[in-house]
Amino acid sequence: MSSIAIDSKRTLRQDLWWLEPLLVVLGLGCFALYSTWAALQNGDYYAAPYLSPFYSPCLAINCEHVSVPIFGTWYNWSPAILILWIPGGFRLTCYYYRKAYYRSFFWSPPACAVRDAASSYSGETRFPFILQNVHRYFFWMSLPVLAFLWWDAFIAFRFADGFGIGLGTLVLIANATLLSLYSFSCHSCRHLCGGGLNSFQAAAGRYKLWGIVTKLNEKHMQIAWVSLVWVGLTDVYVRLLATGVIQDLRFI
Ligand code: FES
Repeated sequence: MSSIAIDSKRTLRQDLWWLEPLLVVLGLGCFALYSTWAALQNGDYYAAPYLSPFYSPCLAINCEHVSVPIFGTWYNWSPAILILWIPGGFRLTCYYYRKAYYRSFFWSPPACAVRDAASSYSGETRFPFILQNVHRYFFWMSLPVLAFLWWDAFIAFRFADGFGIGLGTLVLIANATLLSLYSFSCHSCRHLCGGGLNSFQAAAGRYKLWGIVTKLNEKHMQIAWVSLVWVGLTDVYVRLLATGVIQDLRFI
C-alpha cells in the first residue's frame, strides 16, 4: 500500500474501534439530557423520607425537605441548579471523563491508532481546557455535598410512623456509597494522600492511605460509570414515588 493511500485513511484498524466512543456519546449524552431536564423541573424531588440526590443539599427557600435559606433571594430557582454545578463540575473536569469525552465528542483522538479530527493539538495548555486544572478544587467542594448525601441516606430510615427501611432507603445508601467510592478514587484524592513527598519512609500513615486510594483509583473508570448511572436512577426512583407512579417497597 502506498503512503498516499495510508494518509487518506483515518486508520488502518479493522476492529470496532468506534464502538466505545459511540457508547460514551450515548451514555454521557443521555445523562446530560436527563439531569438537565430533572434539574429544571423544580418539583417531584421529594417523597418522604427520600430526597433526590440532584436536589441535595436543598438550599432554596422553597425546599420541600431541608430549607437552608442562605440563597433566599433566588428562592424561585430550582434547588438543583443551586447545587448541581458542584458535582457536575467535578465530573466534567474528572481525569477519566476528560479522556472519555475528548475521544468520543471531539475525536481527539477517537481511539488508539486513529487519526485526530483536528489537525493541530494544544492539549490543555490553552483556554478553555486549561480550566480543567480546577479539578482538585471541585474535589474539595464535592466533599460537603457527599456529607449531605449521607445525611439524606440516614434520614431515609425515618418514616412518619418511626424507624423503617424501604427500597428507597437502600437506593439512597447505595447512591451515597457509590458516590463516596467515586470521590475517594479520584486522582486528586490520591495525590492528596501520597503527593508532595520525596519518600514515604517518614509517612507510614500516608503510605497506607495512598495504597488504599491507589487500589480504588485503579477502578476509577468503572466506579465513574456505575455511580453516574445509579445517581440518575435514584432521581428516577424518587421522582416516580413523588408523582405517585409507583409505591415504595417497605421492608420494616
Ligand atoms: S479524577 Fe475522576 S473524579 Fe477526580
